[in-house]
Amino acid sequence: MSPDPTAALGPRDRERLGKVLELLAAERASVSSVVDERAWKVHVADSLTGLEVPELVAAGRVADVGAGAGFPGLALAVALPDAQIDLIESIGRKCAFMTNAAAAAAIPNATVLNTRSEDWAAAAGRAAYDVVTARAVGRLSTLAELASPLLKPNGVLIAWKGKRDEEEEAQLTNAAEPLAMTPEQILLVRSSWPAIADEADALTRHFYAHLFDIDESAARLFSGVDMTAQRKKLAQALAVVVHALDDVDCLLPPLAALAKRHTGYGVEDRHFDSVGDALLWAMTDVLGDAFTPDLRDAWAQAYAMVSSVMRRPFARDDVAVAS
Ligand code: HEM
Repeated sequence: MSPDPTAALGPRDRERLGKVLELLAAERASVSSVVDERAWKVHVADSLTGLEVPELVAAGRVADVGAGAGFPGLALAVALPDAQIDLIESIGRKCAFMTNAAAAAAIPNATVLNTRSEDWAAAAGRAAYDVVTARAVGRLSTLAELASPLLKPNGVLIAWKGKRDEEEEAQLTNAAEPLAMTPEQILLVRSSWPAIADEADALTRHFYAHLFDIDESAARLFSGVDMTAQRKKLAQALAVVVHALDDVDCLLPPLAALAKRHTGYGVEDRHFDSVGDALLWAMTDVLGDAFTPDLRDAWAQAYAMVSSVMRRPFARDDVAVAS
């Protein structure tokens, strides 16, 4: 690593980034948790360490996901004037800050997109970027899943982490697989569905009974909910998932929307483990011996796939830009 990654910046570039930091300091804790005089080093120099990656220097289009207060995105836009940098951020207040900062500092090649990266990846952002950058956004495995639909083939994800985390990096190695079910597993789940659908009422009754037994805090979220209607909605959601298992691309947008609604229900990440246990347990109740170990594994994998998408809004934590 070069001793000072900002050394290549010209005086005009320094002035522009100084302007961004000035605005950031004025916002103080309302946008970024880093507000002291070390901001140049903490934000700008750290952002520009990304330029050590040749693919970034050569990139035409870059997406900075969870762009927060605009680092690394705005700093990279200044250092790479020929590249188009899209700053993807779901929180409106942070987007307003970056839009103002980009205008005030005259950074024309940075575009602020007030959206979730999942939604952008399902629209014009799909396979559109040479490089995805992310600084202190959630776990690496989650990040890899978020970034991959945005990247062109052979695109590169660059993640800034406070400190390298071996456990997370190991999870990243496995992250290519979390959505994958084998064709045999898909067939198994599908062929078990008619018998389960016939017993949907019993299945969903058992499911909520188990869930409420094993997880009191999950149970509390359903107080006041019409459980007859809720059981039907769950059965419908399961049917949709089973029918679309071999077309994950088509499942992602509705699952992302369902996940988004769940953030308003008081759900926490850990509840997904209880829900998975209760679901497999209810299937054992309903199918008995027909719920063979292979079928159980296949359903566990289907749930892992669905919950890996559903958990995204719960696992992400914009740690560098406290809101
Ligand atoms: C893969 C996992 C899950 C699936 C497929 C799922 C599916 C659904 C569906 C279809 C609804 C109907 C309302 C809507 O469409 O927004 C719903 C509502 C709800 N879910 Fe989930 N869910 C899952 C995980 C969880 C978890 C982990 C919790 C936490 C305990 C949870 C708590 C709730 C609550 C409290 C409601 C009712 C909201 C209300 O009507 O006030 N869900 N879920």
